[in-house]
Amino acid sequence: MNSIAGKNVVLIGFMGTGKTEVGRLLAKALSRRFVDTDAWIEKENNMTVQKIFATLGEAAFRQKEAEALAVLCGQKGLVLATGGGIILNPQNVVLLRETGFVIWLDAGLEELARRLAGDNTRPLLAGGVDFRDIYRRREKLYRNAAHVRIDTTGKTPLVVSDEIQALLRQDGA
Ligand code: S3P
Repeated sequence: MNSIAGKNVVLIGFMGTGKTEVGRLLAKALSRRFVDTDAWIEKENNMTVQKIFATLGEAAFRQKEAEALAVLCGQKGLVLATGGGIILNPQNVVLLRETGFVIWLDAGLEELARRLAGDNTRPLLAGGVDFRDIYRRREKLYRNAAHVRIDTTGKTPLVVSDEIQALLRQDGA
C-alpha cells in the first residue's frame, strides 16, 4: 500500500496476541497517540467489557465496537489496538482498511493456550469454551482483513513493536 503517513496503524488479532501491549510500545516509538477500542468503549460507557457482555449481551457490545470505530477511524495518525472480534463485522473491516494500515498479530495455538491460561477477564473464554474453536472460525477473517501478518510466537512485545517499525520504514512511513 501507499505510505501510511496520515493513516492509522491498526492492530487486529486474536485475544492474547499482545495488541494492547505492542500498540502502546509502538505508539511511544512512533510518537503517535495510542487508543485501544476496548478501553475506549469502557470509558464511553463507564462499564467494563465484562459488564457490558454480562448485562447487555454480546450484540450490544458489537454495536458499541462499530460505534467506536466510526469515531476513531475519523481520526488520523493513531495506533489503534482493536478487540479480537472486530473483524466479525465486515463494515468494520472496510473502515479499518480504508483509514489504516492493518496489521494482524498472530501466534501459534500452543503459545496462545499458554498466554490465555487462567484468563478470567474475557467473557468469550468463560464457561469452558475452547478458544481453538473460536480461533479456527476467525482465522480467515483476520487474514482477509489484514494488509500484513506478524507471527508473535516466542517474541516479546518490544520485538514485535520493532518488527512493525521496520515494516513501516520499508513502506516509506
Ligand atoms: C473479544 C476480545 C476482547 C474484547 C471482548 C471480545 C473477542 O478483546 O473485545 O472480550 O471477541 O475476541 P482482546 O482481544 O483485547 O482480548
